[in-house]
Amino acid sequence: MSTDKNNIAVELTGFSGYELKHSKEYDEEITLIGPGTKAGEYFRRYWHPVYISSELGDLPVAIKILGEELVLFRDKSKQLGLVHKHCPHRQASLEFGICQKTGISCCYHGWHFDVDGKILEVPGQSMQTQEIIKEKVQLGAYPTHEFKGLVFAYFGPKEKKPEFPMYDSLNFDDMEMVPYKAPFACNWLQVLDAIVDPIHTAFLHSNMSRQQFSEGFGEVGQIDFFERDSWILGCNTRRVGDNIWFRINEVVLPNFTQAGAAFAADGTKEIYYGRSSFTRWVVPIDDETTICYAWANFGDRGDPHEYNTPEGPELIEQGEIFDRPYEERQRFPADREACEGMGRINIHKNENLLASDQGVAMMRQRIREQIRSLVDGKEPHKVTTLKDSPIPTYGGDSVINIPKIIEDEDSFLSKLAREFIKIQFEVDDKTEKERVEIVTNKLKEIQSRENS
Ligand code: FES
Ligand SMILES: [Fe+2]
Repeated sequence: MSTDKNNIAVELTGFSGYELKHSKEYDEEITLIGPGTKAGEYFRRYWHPVYISSELGDLPVAIKILGEELVLFRDKSKQLGLVHKHCPHRQASLEFGICQKTGISCCYHGWHFDVDGKILEVPGQSMQTQEIIKEKVQLGAYPTHEFKGLVFAYFGPKEKKPEFPMYDSLNFDDMEMVPYKAPFACNWLQVLDAIVDPIHTAFLHSNMSRQQFSEGFGEVGQIDFFERDSWILGCNTRRVGDNIWFRINEVVLPNFTQAGAAFAADGTKEIYYGRSSFTRWVVPIDDETTICYAWANFGDRGDPHEYNTPEGPELIEQGEIFDRPYEERQRFPADREACEGMGRINIHKNENLLASDQGVAMMRQRIREQIRSLVDGKEPHKVTTLKDSPIPTYGGDSVINIPKIIEDEDSFLSKLAREFIKIQFEVDDKTEKERVEIVTNKLKEIQSRENS
C-alpha cells in the first residue's frame, strides 16, 4: 500500500511517522474572518448574535466578534450600543466608560458618544473646537437588534444591511425559547462542519464512550444531503424497530444551524413534524475562537421541559456539559473535544474525506463560491429576499410507523427522505399552521401507502 501525501509517495508499511509529512497550510480563503479578509467580508453581510441580553448589566462589556475588539453597553435610556473598543481621542477602552442617559462617556477625558458613535460632547473644550472635532471624528459603531433575549449586530456596509431574518422557528408559539451560549477554542468552520456531519452522532455521541443522547442515535442509518439557495440539509433516516426516523440537520449559510431533539426523539414513538430543538448561530470571535449563541427550544415539538435547567442547553448542544475536568473530557469526549482537538484552525489538506463527509465538502464548497462571488462584486444569498417572512426552516425530527419488509432498505430509506424533503419544500409559502397540518397529513399518507 502506498499513499500520496502532499505530493510525496509513501510506502505504507507501518511505522511511517517519519515519512508521513503534514501540511501546515490552512485554507485561509474560507476560515479567516477578520476585517478585510474574504470570508470576513462575506460574514459582514448578515446579522449575528453577539451577547445574551440578561448578562448585560449596567456596566459596559468588552467583547470580540469577527476579530474586532468591541464594547457593548446599555445606556440609561435602555438603548444598546455596540462600538469600537478604543476611544478615538487617545485610545482608552470604553469598557471603563460611564453609561449616560444617552450613550457612553470615555473615562479618561470624558468624550461623550451616542449609541451610533457620533460625538455628543467634548468636555473642557471651546464650542468651536467641539464643532470641529464632531465634524472630523467619530467612534465606530454597529447597528443592534434585540430579540427574545439575544443581542444581534450587523457588521457590514450600511447600505447592504439586510432585514433581520425572521425564521419561522423564532416564533413557534408552542415552544419555550431559552438563550444559551457555547464557547469553542477553535475556528468557526470546524464547529459548523459538525452540523453537516450527521454520522458523528452514532460515534462521538453514542458508541465511542457513553450514550450522550437517546439510544436511537447509535444507529448510523442512511444519510442524504439536499441543498437549495442558502440551505444545506442533511437527512439522517434510521430504522428503529417498526419505525422510520427522519432527522434533519440544517445549515443556512453562512452560520445559522438547526437540528432535531437531543432527548425527546429516539425513533421509538411517532412524531409528525417535530421541529428544531436548538436554533443557533456559529459566531466567530476571531480566527481561533468561536461562540455559539442559540435558543434551546422546549415543548412538545422540541426537547422536554425537564431539560430546561442551567445545564440542559449544554447537554442538548453536545451531550455533555462544557466545563469539565480534563480527565472526564478524555473519558467522555463530546463536540467541544472533537472540534478543539483538531487544532485552532483545522488544516483541511491533512484530512481524508469519505462519501459520508459529503455534507462537509458540499458546505465548504458553497461557502467558497459565495465568498468568491462577493469578491467578484456579486452580493451573496440573502435569506430575507428569497422568501416572504417568516422564512421556512426544516431542522427537526419526524418518526413514522412502517415495519420492515425488505432486508436491504438503504435505497428505500433514501427514497422516503427525498419524498419528505420534497413535501416540506412544497409548502414553503404556507403559514406555519398550514405547513404543520399538510406535512403531518402527507407523512400519514406515506405511512398508510407503505403499510397497505
Ligand atoms: S482617551 Fe477617551 S476621552 Fe481621552
Ligand atoms: Fe455533535
